[in-house]
Amino acid sequence: MAEPKANELMEKIVSLCKRRGFIYPSSEIYGGIAGFWDYGPLGAELKRNVKDLWWRRLVHQRDDVAGLEATIIMAPQVWKASGHVDTFSDPMVDCKTCKGRFRADQLAETPCPQRPSKMVSECHGEKTPPRAFNLMFTTHVGPVQDDSSLAYLRPETAQAIFVQFKNVLETSRQRVPFGIAQIGKAFRNEVTPRNFTFRSREFEQMELEYFIKPDEAVEAICGRVATPAGPGHPGEPQPDWGWQMWHQYWVEERLRFYESLGLSRDTLEEYWQKPEELAHYARACVDILFKFPFGTQELEGIAARSDFDLSQHQRFSGKPMTVFDEELKNAWAKLPKEKQDALWRRYFEARRAYLTRMGETAEQAEALARADADGLAKGWYVPHVIEPSAGVDRLILALICHAYSEVTDTDTKGKPETRVILRFHPSVAPIKVGVFPLLKNRPELVAKAREVRDLVRTRFTVFYDESGSIGRRYARQDEAGTPFGVTIDFDTLGETPALKDTVTVRERDTGRQERVAIAELTAWLEAHLR
Ligand code: GLY
Repeated sequence: MAEPKANELMEKIVSLCKRRGFIYPSSEIYGGIAGFWDYGPLGAELKRNVKDLWWRRLVHQRDDVAGLEATIIMAPQVWKASGHVDTFSDPMVDCKTCKGRFRADQLAETPCPQRPSKMVSECHGEKTPPRAFNLMFTTHVGPVQDDSSLAYLRPETAQAIFVQFKNVLETSRQRVPFGIAQIGKAFRNEVTPRNFTFRSREFEQMELEYFIKPDEAVEAICGRVATPAGPGHPGEPQPDWGWQMWHQYWVEERLRFYESLGLSRDTLEEYWQKPEELAHYARACVDILFKFPFGTQELEGIAARSDFDLSQHQRFSGKPMTVFDEELKNAWAKLPKEKQDALWRRYFEARRAYLTRMGETAEQAEALARADADGLAKGWYVPHVIEPSAGVDRLILALICHAYSEVTDTDTKGKPETRVILRFHPSVAPIKVGVFPLLKNRPELVAKAREVRDLVRTRFTVFYDESGSIGRRYARQDEAGTPFGVTIDFDTLGETPALKDTVTVRERDTGRQERVAIAELTAWLEAHLR
């Protein structure tokens, strides 16, 4: 496919990913399959590191988040309740001339398959009017392929969290506010997958659904609802936080996460969706964007989704998604009558508006909302949710793009030579340490180097390499993004007695070398790989 010149960098990155085993086209020997990508040895390590860091930060390092690992195929009613069956679609046009199918909103950016120098919006092919194309992949469960066995590959991991909300609440002994986190595959039959792995048909998500009290409950308990005083991290969560504080908290927490992986703030942008861009149930949504070579694009969305999701599953399944809050019940009983009435009315109006939007008759919406508001007065509510939803593959691509750099050295004959260094943050680097005997034809060097390799790999991912000049071996690891190289030389063996049992540690980004005792090597690496 012809890419504009501006995408030369992307072409280099795609080719590096293939050459070094980060990312390959899926099923490549059969010509590939559009929108599907495989992670090779280095890519698999990088991805695993990123997912582990997300999980550790959100689940292991917090008391208020529990993990979940749900199935990809779920009861099809889930997707009816979530709205995906009816509305999860893109506008699509077909070209009657080339038989291509394109996103109606991307014609100006999509090259014509027959004349790649022209965009589809400018080519002469006759187009059909746009029509909705549902993005969910379908399959059938069991041997009979009819409507009753129809099922979907999940288009997001989030819904399983809502569906299992009650089970997790009961078994994890959490209380609102608390979150449920999940990492897993999701599938969207994108009309035009594009920009390498950025928009793929099979991808991985890292999603947190963080459940909070409705503002009316917070106000009843605390007498007020705290709202953000200004931009920036609002600090440790407080009982009087309303949804806006929680939303800002999660935006800032997620930005800190990206920074901890080495993506500095100047490579990121925040985009606050405009009211007309928000989904009908959302109160706010902030996209965290990264400056990719092909444009500034979304890594993660942090949405304040009100109580929409749990309410939908309550209506469709007939199972209550309410929680009981003793503190609310007690606080409510002590409120002055006018305060009770005001909070009751606000909650009632919000519930009625939701039920009406969902197609309930005016009488039914009124009756159900009245019951909900009466429930609030007794300590019952459907939790609201803040959803930080990140794409793993997009983040991997962002990390690779951010790490990519070229340096020009002079070779032994004085000729300039350009090579690539992937400057990954040590926490995500696929291989942490390269281990090299200075010469491979000296058994005593090789034996010592293997000893050092075995020692270091008890703690870190190691690549042992004895082939080629030491310069070439360093360069190979620079290209893989390995932060440190450890070389075992004659001094290690005692040629200079004071240096016996020490090794050279070379730093990837500066080429700086330091002599470190083998006995202190793992502690040294531990301190420098944070
Ligand atoms: N759950 C939000 C998303 O998949 O984008």
